[in-house]
Amino acid sequence: MNESDQNPTAPRPASSRATEGDPAVVPAFAPPHAGRRRLRYAVVGTGHRAGMYVAALTGDHADVGEIVAWCDTNPGRMDWYDAQAGEALGLGGPAGLPQYGAQDVERMVDEQRVDVVVVTTPDVAHAGVVARALDAGADVVVEKPLTTTVEGCRTVVRAVARTGRDVVMTFNYRYAPRNSSLRDVIASGRIGRVTSVHFEWALDTVHGADYFRRWHRDKASSGGLLVHKSSHHFDLVNWWLHDVPSRVYASGGLRFYGDANAAARGMGPRPERGTGTTGDPWSLDLTHDPRLQGLYLDTEHHDGYRRDQDVFAPGITIEDNMSVVVDYRGGATLTYSLNAHAPWEGYRVTVNGTEGRAELEVVERGAVILDADGRAVLDPSATPEGVAAQAARPEGERLLVQRHWEAAREWRIPRGVGGHGGGDAILLMDVFRRDLRLAADPLGRAAGYRDGLRAVAVGIAANRSMVTGQPVLVDDLGLGDLAPAVDTEPAAVPATPPAGTATTADPTTPDPTTPDPTTPDPTTPVTTGAAR
Ligand SMILES: NC(=O)c1ccc[n+]([C@@H]2O[C@H](COP(=O)([O-])OP(=O)(O)OC[C@H]3O[C@@H](n4cnc5c(N)ncnc54)[C@H](O)[C@@H]3O)[C@@H](O)[C@H]2O)c1
Repeated sequence: MNESDQNPTAPRPASSRATEGDPAVVPAFAPPHAGRRRLRYAVVGTGHRAGMYVAALTGDHADVGEIVAWCDTNPGRMDWYDAQAGEALGLGGPAGLPQYGAQDVERMVDEQRVDVVVVTTPDVAHAGVVARALDAGADVVVEKPLTTTVEGCRTVVRAVARTGRDVVMTFNYRYAPRNSSLRDVIASGRIGRVTSVHFEWALDTVHGADYFRRWHRDKASSGGLLVHKSSHHFDLVNWWLHDVPSRVYASGGLRFYGDANAAARGMGPRPERGTGTTGDPWSLDLTHDPRLQGLYLDTEHHDGYRRDQDVFAPGITIEDNMSVVVDYRGGATLTYSLNAHAPWEGYRVTVNGTEGRAELEVVERGAVILDADGRAVLDPSATPEGVAAQAARPEGERLLVQRHWEAAREWRIPRGVGGHGGGDAILLMDVFRRDLRLAADPLGRAAGYRDGLRAVAVGIAANRSMVTGQPVLVDDLGLGDLAPAVDTEPAAVPATPPAGTATTADPTTPDPTTPDPTTPDPTTPVTTGAAR
């Protein structure tokens, strides 16, 4: 399985293709000791995202964990992964793992002696599955967002309190080295106390459109993009600032996708689904990707799940343009916007501080261009036309730091490994081998359920604000204690370069004599904490 191919419509920046990471962001682990029992994992929700975990547990991390059961509402998708797992493990056929329906989480944990349940269902089901897995006696690894509603937050909080078990949130964006670097800059004190953050995220007409083809388009299933997608971004800001959101005001609407907008722009009749269409850049043909065909088209008869609905069809209840203002307890303000129909994909973050300013700019796909058949080219940088189209907006990333009275300097961004900006592979090491870590993470990247709560708190409050037209106090949502957990407190990070040399060191050529806080040499693994 191709780990970097988690989302067929997402950009594939060159930075994702690195195979050798930089020790500044790739942690070191002790080998598992002889006789160590492999943990028993079950995957609940065997759709596209499950692939990353299945590939890890049948590949790089098969020495520390094994998949022992599948759980899904669709037997066809479980069969598909069973075949993939069998192949990856070299079994010469399907793995033959037991399959369970959505109602059988508890029975599965019991019968298969499951240690950890990986939750990759659609967002609306997360909280219920998490609580049931915890109650059944398993720990949990859950995809973002933690949940979509206030009630979902309370369900998780109560289940953790009841069981004392561990919930790992897989916020992979934290592990993208460019995002870690911005945390590094802020924690170093180099730009002083943060007073405000401006954060703009542009989803293009390939990746952004994909949220309007299936369950994400239904607010009740995904919480809308401010929960589903922006929980990544709000988590980043919470983590960069090590702060807690306190008040949220939001405005937004469906202004591009959907039947009413198509009609207003004079678009003619549309195909009901993308598969089988030609020459339509808005359509996704599932037969063009064997993985999409196997997981969705070939299994559609089981549950009627259509992965390729038209983005201009009726029934879309989420927004495609969103603006949010978030006040933080510590006094900073975030201004945030998300657009889901941009001609390029990437993001810009500006962090203003009392001593200066940091600016992160990322271009993940510089242009969406069409091939001769009118289909969007997913990786324009792989074609000469794409390279030409990207001339003015090349794919890449740049972090600038500028202190008062000084020129701007470019901050060196270390190389990660794997997909999602080089973060997914590092995340997986932390998920599956964290008891073998040789040193605590000075970046504090590992996330738990409280981080998940703080992230969705912003989206849930924003959804409420868009309905009422009023700002929403996060405390009024009644989500319980949102204070940063002690074990996610950032260490006093001697940044790269260290703060003491801030005015003289060249961040592009770090001083080799400076001890790297993220490259440990002790031989004893550290405990990174549970149930964060
Ligand atoms: N971190 C990231 O970058 C990232 C990327 C993609 C997806 N995700 C997250 O992963 C999750 C899954 O996304 P996806 O694109 O794979 O969705 P998907 O619809 O392709 O897959 C979800 C699977 O869950 C099954 N399912 C539905 N309800 C269930 C239930 N109650 N119990 C068991 N199985 C159930 C479906 O049949 C399907 O097989 C989402 O929460 C999404 O936010 C995260």
